[in-house]
Amino acid sequence: MQPVLKPIITHDQIQSRIRELAADINRDYAGQPLIIVGVLKGVFIFLADLIRLLEMPVRVDFVRLRSYGASDTSSGKVEITKDLEIPISGEHVLIIEDIIDSGLTLRYLLNHLQQQQPKSLKICCLTDKPERRTLDVPIDYVGFHVPKGFLVGYGLDYAENYRQLPDICELEL
Ligand code: IMP
Ligand code: MG
Repeated sequence: MQPVLKPIITHDQIQSRIRELAADINRDYAGQPLIIVGVLKGVFIFLADLIRLLEMPVRVDFVRLRSYGASDTSSGKVEITKDLEIPISGEHVLIIEDIIDSGLTLRYLLNHLQQQQPKSLKICCLTDKPERRTLDVPIDYVGFHVPKGFLVGYGLDYAENYRQLPDICELEL
Protein backbone atom coordinates (compact mmCIF):
# COMPACT_ATOMS: atom_id res chain seq x y z
CA MET A 1 0.00 0.00 0.00
CA GLN A 2 1.18 3.55 -0.74
CA PRO A 3 2.06 5.59 2.38
CA VAL A 4 -0.43 8.41 3.09
CA LEU A 5 0.96 11.93 3.58
CA LYS A 6 -1.33 14.23 5.52
CA PRO A 7 -0.19 17.89 5.59
CA ILE A 8 -0.37 19.22 9.15
CA ILE A 9 1.63 22.46 8.85
CA THR A 10 1.66 24.24 5.50
CA HIS A 11 4.63 25.98 3.95
CA ASP A 12 2.93 29.37 4.49
CA GLN A 13 2.30 28.61 8.16
CA ILE A 14 5.94 27.59 8.57
CA GLN A 15 7.20 30.79 6.91
CA SER A 16 5.03 33.03 9.03
CA ARG A 17 6.08 31.27 12.25
CA ILE A 18 9.74 31.57 11.21
CA ARG A 19 9.29 35.34 10.86
CA GLU A 20 8.03 35.44 14.46
CA LEU A 21 10.90 33.28 15.73
CA ALA A 22 13.45 35.46 13.92
CA ALA A 23 11.90 38.59 15.44
CA ASP A 24 12.23 37.05 18.93
CA ILE A 25 15.84 36.04 18.32
CA ASN A 26 16.73 39.46 16.84
CA ARG A 27 15.22 41.14 19.90
CA ASP A 28 16.86 38.80 22.46
CA TYR A 29 20.39 39.04 21.07
CA ALA A 30 20.04 42.68 20.00
CA GLY A 31 22.92 42.89 17.53
CA GLN A 32 25.33 40.64 19.46
CA PRO A 33 27.31 38.18 17.30
CA LEU A 34 25.81 34.71 17.31
CA ILE A 35 27.06 31.25 16.36
CA ILE A 36 24.31 29.10 14.90
CA VAL A 37 24.82 25.36 15.35
CA GLY A 38 22.60 23.32 13.02
CA VAL A 39 21.91 19.67 13.76
CA LEU A 40 22.19 17.73 10.48
CA LYS A 41 20.56 16.62 8.40
CA GLY A 42 16.93 17.47 9.03
CA VAL A 43 17.54 21.11 9.92
CA PHE A 44 19.03 22.31 6.65
CA ILE A 45 15.89 23.87 5.16
CA PHE A 46 14.65 25.46 8.39
CA LEU A 47 18.13 26.85 9.10
CA ALA A 48 18.43 28.34 5.62
CA ASP A 49 15.07 30.12 5.98
CA LEU A 50 15.65 31.31 9.55
CA ILE A 51 19.17 32.72 9.27
CA ARG A 52 18.25 34.91 6.31
CA LEU A 53 15.96 36.84 8.67
CA LEU A 54 18.57 37.34 11.40
CA GLU A 55 20.06 40.80 11.72
CA MET A 56 23.06 40.27 14.02
CA PRO A 57 26.45 39.03 12.70
CA VAL A 58 25.99 35.27 12.31
CA ARG A 59 28.44 32.40 11.85
CA VAL A 60 27.07 28.96 10.99
CA ASP A 61 28.41 25.54 11.86
CA PHE A 62 26.91 22.06 11.84
CA VAL A 63 27.02 18.92 13.95
CA ARG A 64 25.69 15.50 13.20
CA LEU A 65 24.61 12.96 15.80
CA ARG A 66 23.53 9.38 15.63
CA SER A 67 21.50 7.50 18.18
CA TYR A 68 21.77 3.77 18.44
CA GLY A 69 20.63 0.99 20.75
CA ALA A 70 17.11 1.52 22.07
CA SER A 71 16.52 4.47 19.76
CA ASP A 72 12.95 4.86 20.94
CA THR A 73 13.79 5.42 24.60
CA SER A 74 16.10 7.52 26.72
CA SER A 75 18.25 4.44 27.33
CA GLY A 76 19.49 4.72 23.72
CA LYS A 77 23.03 6.03 23.24
CA VAL A 78 24.06 9.05 21.20
CA GLU A 79 27.35 9.70 19.46
CA ILE A 80 28.68 12.66 17.49
CA THR A 81 29.60 11.72 13.94
CA LYS A 82 30.51 15.29 12.86
CA ASP A 83 31.68 17.81 15.40
CA LEU A 84 31.92 21.62 15.32
CA GLU A 85 34.68 23.30 13.35
CA ILE A 86 34.26 26.81 14.82
CA PRO A 87 35.44 27.30 18.45
CA ILE A 88 32.50 28.44 20.60
CA SER A 89 34.27 29.28 23.86
CA GLY A 90 33.02 32.68 25.11
CA GLU A 91 30.48 33.01 22.27
CA HIS A 92 26.69 33.23 22.18
CA VAL A 93 25.53 29.94 20.68
CA LEU A 94 22.08 28.99 19.39
CA ILE A 95 21.42 25.35 18.51
CA ILE A 96 18.90 24.93 15.68
CA GLU A 97 17.09 21.59 15.47
CA ASP A 98 14.25 20.29 13.31
CA ILE A 99 12.37 18.22 15.85
CA ILE A 100 12.65 17.19 19.47
CA ASP A 101 11.18 13.88 20.43
CA SER A 102 12.59 12.01 23.48
CA GLY A 103 15.10 14.82 24.11
CA LEU A 104 18.02 12.39 24.06
CA THR A 105 19.85 13.99 21.12
CA LEU A 106 19.60 17.55 22.40
CA ARG A 107 20.46 16.62 25.99
CA TYR A 108 23.64 14.97 24.76
CA LEU A 109 24.51 17.90 22.49
CA LEU A 110 23.93 20.47 25.25
CA ASN A 111 26.33 18.63 27.57
CA HIS A 112 28.88 18.32 24.79
CA LEU A 113 28.79 22.00 23.78
CA GLN A 114 28.70 23.22 27.37
CA GLN A 115 32.19 21.74 27.85
CA GLN A 116 33.57 24.47 25.57
CA GLN A 117 32.10 27.11 27.89
CA PRO A 118 30.12 29.29 25.49
CA LYS A 119 28.95 32.65 26.84
CA SER A 120 25.37 31.43 26.40
CA LEU A 121 23.76 28.31 24.94
CA LYS A 122 20.14 28.22 23.81
CA ILE A 123 17.95 25.99 21.65
CA CYS A 124 15.57 26.81 18.81
CA CYS A 125 13.48 23.91 17.57
CA LEU A 126 11.03 24.03 14.68
CA THR A 127 8.78 21.27 16.03
CA ASP A 128 8.35 19.77 19.47
CA LYS A 129 6.59 16.53 20.40
CA PRO A 130 6.20 17.14 24.15
CA GLU A 131 4.21 13.94 24.74
CA ARG A 132 7.25 11.88 23.83
CA ARG A 133 9.76 13.64 26.06
CA THR A 134 11.69 11.38 28.45
CA LEU A 135 14.58 13.75 29.24
CA ASP A 136 14.02 17.30 30.35
CA VAL A 137 15.54 19.77 27.88
CA PRO A 138 15.04 23.55 28.09
CA ILE A 139 13.85 24.81 24.70
CA ASP A 140 14.05 28.56 24.31
CA TYR A 141 12.31 28.97 20.94
CA VAL A 142 9.71 26.49 19.66
CA GLY A 143 8.06 26.77 16.25
CA PHE A 144 5.18 24.34 16.68
CA HIS A 145 3.98 21.80 19.18
CA VAL A 146 3.07 18.72 17.15
CA PRO A 147 1.29 15.42 17.80
CA LYS A 148 3.37 12.32 18.47
CA GLY A 149 2.95 10.72 15.00
CA PHE A 150 5.83 10.50 12.52
CA LEU A 151 6.42 13.71 10.56
CA VAL A 152 8.16 14.26 7.23
CA GLY A 153 8.81 17.16 4.87
CA TYR A 154 10.50 20.56 5.14
CA GLY A 155 13.78 18.73 5.83
CA LEU A 156 12.35 15.89 7.94
CA ASP A 157 12.82 12.43 6.51
CA TYR A 158 11.63 8.87 6.69
CA ALA A 159 14.57 6.67 5.64
CA GLU A 160 16.01 9.72 3.82
CA ASN A 161 12.84 10.26 1.77
CA TYR A 162 10.39 13.20 1.70
CA ARG A 163 12.83 15.92 2.84
CA GLN A 164 11.88 18.07 -0.16
CA LEU A 165 8.16 18.38 0.63
CA PRO A 166 7.26 22.06 1.23
CA ASP A 167 4.72 21.23 3.98
CA ILE A 168 5.24 19.25 7.18
CA CYS A 169 3.15 16.10 6.79
CA GLU A 170 2.17 13.22 9.00
CA LEU A 171 3.25 9.92 7.47
CA GLU A 172 0.76 7.10 7.78
CA LEU A 173 2.50 3.87 6.80
P1 IMP B 1 15.24 12.58 20.12
O1 IMP B 1 16.69 12.32 20.40
O2 IMP B 1 14.36 11.42 20.50
O3 IMP B 1 14.71 13.89 20.68
O4 IMP B 1 15.09 12.57 18.57
C1 IMP B 1 15.40 13.62 17.81
C2 IMP B 1 15.78 13.20 16.40
O5 IMP B 1 15.00 12.07 15.93
C3 IMP B 1 15.45 14.34 15.48
O6 IMP B 1 16.56 15.20 15.37
C4 IMP B 1 15.11 13.63 14.19
O7 IMP B 1 16.29 13.40 13.47
C5 IMP B 1 14.53 12.30 14.62
N1 IMP B 1 13.05 12.35 14.65
C6 IMP B 1 12.26 12.29 15.74
N2 IMP B 1 10.96 12.34 15.41
C7 IMP B 1 10.92 12.46 14.07
C8 IMP B 1 9.84 12.57 13.11
O8 IMP B 1 8.63 12.58 13.42
N3 IMP B 1 10.21 12.66 11.81
C9 IMP B 1 11.51 12.66 11.40
N4 IMP B 1 12.55 12.58 12.26
C10 IMP B 1 12.25 12.46 13.58
MG1 MG C 1 17.47 15.98 13.77
